Amino acid sequence: MTGRKIPFGPTYDEMLHPETMDAALRGKALRALKENELDPVNLFNITWKDGNNQVRKIVLPPELTGVDANIVVMLGKEFPSGSHKVGPAYATLIEGCVDGEIIPGEHTILGPSTGNFGIGVSYICNLMGYKAVVIMPDNMSKERYERIRKYGAELDLTPGTESDVILTLQRTYELKKDPKNRPLAQFELFPNYRFHRHVTGNSAIEAVRGIGNGRIAAFCSAPGSAGTIAAGDAIKAAFPECKIAALEPYECSTLANGGRGQHRIEGIGDKMCTLIHNVLTTDFVTLIYDDDCVKALKVIHDAPHILAKLGVAPEVAEGMRELFGVSGICNILGAIKMAKYLKLGPDDNVVTIATDSFDRYNSVLEDLDRRYLETADFVLERWVRDIFHGSGEDHVFDFRRKDRKEQLFQQKEQDWLPFGYSQAYLDAMRSPQFWEDEYQKVHEYNEKIKAMR
Ligand SMILES: Cc1ncc(COP(=O)(O)O)c(C=O)c1O
Repeated sequence: MTGRKIPFGPTYDEMLHPETMDAALRGKALRALKENELDPVNLFNITWKDGNNQVRKIVLPPELTGVDANIVVMLGKEFPSGSHKVGPAYATLIEGCVDGEIIPGEHTILGPSTGNFGIGVSYICNLMGYKAVVIMPDNMSKERYERIRKYGAELDLTPGTESDVILTLQRTYELKKDPKNRPLAQFELFPNYRFHRHVTGNSAIEAVRGIGNGRIAAFCSAPGSAGTIAAGDAIKAAFPECKIAALEPYECSTLANGGRGQHRIEGIGDKMCTLIHNVLTTDFVTLIYDDDCVKALKVIHDAPHILAKLGVAPEVAEGMRELFGVSGICNILGAIKMAKYLKLGPDDNVVTIATDSFDRYNSVLEDLDRRYLETADFVLERWVRDIFHGSGEDHVFDFRRKDRKEQLFQQKEQDWLPFGYSQAYLDAMRSPQFWEDEYQKVHEYNEKIKAMR
């Protein structure tokens, strides 16, 4: 880290409330976001808020969603490195730094990932001057590898795709035996939970101010590491009626029923119940067809004229083109399904997340064009009607039931006992207090980060 101007970035509170930062620093950070993404001051851009301190979001047009409820999508696109996964990457690294466990010049950072977390890790390590190795499957979209190389990290590839993420964990477990390696284990470490519960969750609460009844009736997130879904814990604390839905690919329905297939939604559906997933607050598990997400992305990106024909304001259709990736569309389709299932009306808000944006999915649409012989306008119009407007209430499983919760606890045991976690530790996670205690550490880390920078 020697020679770096800003080895330490923001506290959890500053990521949530960037307006509380020194104004000159914030101004400098906002300029760097546009001018030089590798300036370390960009650490201070890890926030959902724009230059006016408003949460970046879009309320989807009902002509697209086909439901009365307001579907509010928080946009991860403008985070440095292009996705909000940079937040957990930073939080995990900075907690390790202030705890004295990660030492500059001594340790190499390992980032097991299917992409965006790895991109985030390579980016943060570039800014903070650490050597990084990203461990990821060898069959993800090529845009991901390009970004990681651009940020200067080394790639260590394991065979497979999204649902072979367990192999990246096994590889990390091996590499971790070398004492100079320090894994930022997003599936296991609680900075990921803390970032999303504090920063994403409270930003979601701000995002719905002035929309509908100003509350959140449902929060939908397709878990990869299950970091993002922790936002639901903050939302439920503010709005106890809020239902949290975990979305999974229909083709890889691990939480719903132990399904473990290959699928096309990069970043989610990792064939496990992650250690940091607070299953106590997961009310529903909802399945979404993977190719529906890819087709819907094609429509939004390539065919704003079709959306306009269906009544979406042309400038809104045009403005949506670059905002979502495949998992963002999955979240949107899940939000629509839950709005229908819960019979929500025009006063109600459903919040969901676009983790990243279109910039890393060109190759996915090229592949779709190869697979589908017909993508003429009339086909795309039918896709909107079938996938958005025609979404049903099917494949929604109620996980408030005791036997369903037990199923998730057991899935977690099956996934994590082999990695050396004790039964007693996993049992402790059955208590809401465990999650409160982990969350409360936010305050401790706020102080430690301030003290060290
Ligand atoms: C594109 C994309 N969507 C969704 C997710 C899932 O988010 P989380 O890991 O917070 O559950 C990820 C995680 O890497 C991702 O890369």
